[in-house]
Amino acid sequence: MAELKLIDPYNRHLNYLRISITDRCNLKCIYCVPRDLIPRLSHDDILTYEEILRLVRIGIKLGISKIRVTGGEPLVRKGVYSFLSDLSRLDGLADISLTTNGVSLKANLRRIKTAGIKRINISLDTLNRTKFERITGFNLFDQVWQGIEMAMEMGFHPIKLNIVALNGINDDELADMARLSFDYPLHIRFIEYMPIGESQIGNGPLLLAPEIKKRISVLGSLIPVTNTIDDGPAQRYHFEGAAGEIGFIHALSHHFCDRCNRLRLTARGRLRPCLLSDHHEDVKEVMRTGGTDEELMEVFFKAVRHKPSDHNLAIQNPSRVCGQMSSIGG
Ligand code: GTP
Ligand code: 5AD
Repeated sequence: MAELKLIDPYNRHLNYLRISITDRCNLKCIYCVPRDLIPRLSHDDILTYEEILRLVRIGIKLGISKIRVTGGEPLVRKGVYSFLSDLSRLDGLADISLTTNGVSLKANLRRIKTAGIKRINISLDTLNRTKFERITGFNLFDQVWQGIEMAMEMGFHPIKLNIVALNGINDDELADMARLSFDYPLHIRFIEYMPIGESQIGNGPLLLAPEIKKRISVLGSLIPVTNTIDDGPAQRYHFEGAAGEIGFIHALSHHFCDRCNRLRLTARGRLRPCLLSDHHEDVKEVMRTGGTDEELMEVFFKAVRHKPSDHNLAIQNPSRVCGQMSSIGG
């Protein structure tokens, strides 16, 4: 049934759905959340878990096999662990993963494991407690680090640490963070800051992957790791003898749109074909006005037809993307 696949006008096969289950977060990271608080969505505005599961079942029929659950912070939504279990029980999904800020990890890793999640990506932009508070607004570094340690002990693998590289904020720590990969089986990923929506980061020069590579090369040569077809956007490396890996997510300096296989579902029920384009299709509206599965499939196809060939977020240009990272889920 070739026609029942999500293939976009540029012949990319979309098999990966990122689901933001809430726009709420228990941190206020300066690169993600705007200075002026945006009004929070009400209960009725966001998809129920049943609605999300219905859309995932439809997605599976259309070839979705990979799901990532994101937020805001996904672990703050009530009922998330039952939802993750329900998701794991669906036939047809090869990979279900979670992106979290790690604040609630330690207390909930068992429930996450029992729910069937094996892969976790965790945001951690600094190893310094004072800086952690400056970046996130909360003094919770130790709690997050303990969660990471416990996740390693419990055998989650891979555990990816997401570091948004920010000039004047964590640029002095890049080698220290990369050094973690020697002792721990962690994937340390340096992410170029994407200037979208409103954030508290000014328009200063961006810290891009080539410069990050240069700064961490004091630790040794970066040996490329061959990317597999299911890999996300990170370009992978490791240091000789290291337990873990280093990754670069360079959406600006060298974008990876030609191999993008993603579609996003936001908490308010919009299908978004590209992180860096505001185009979306309102699938909640169709569902809540009695839409059939066939009609909902048509919304998926419509979103896919609008997937741009590439994003035009340029290094020198101010953002033209209005959507907030905090509600799209990265
Ligand atoms: P896996 O590789 O599947 O583990 O996940 P991931 O790296 O895609 O997910 P994660 O949620 O950890 O995101 C890491 C960073 O990659 C975030 O800054 C995301 O915004 C960015 N990212 C994820 N998907 C895309 C994408 O489609 N386009 C762009 N430009 N950036 C993306
Ligand atoms: N640019 C790049 N990455 C970002 N993230 C959040 N906001 C931004 C941004 N403006 C990353 C965080 C989180 C992931 C889902 O998205 O590191 O781990």
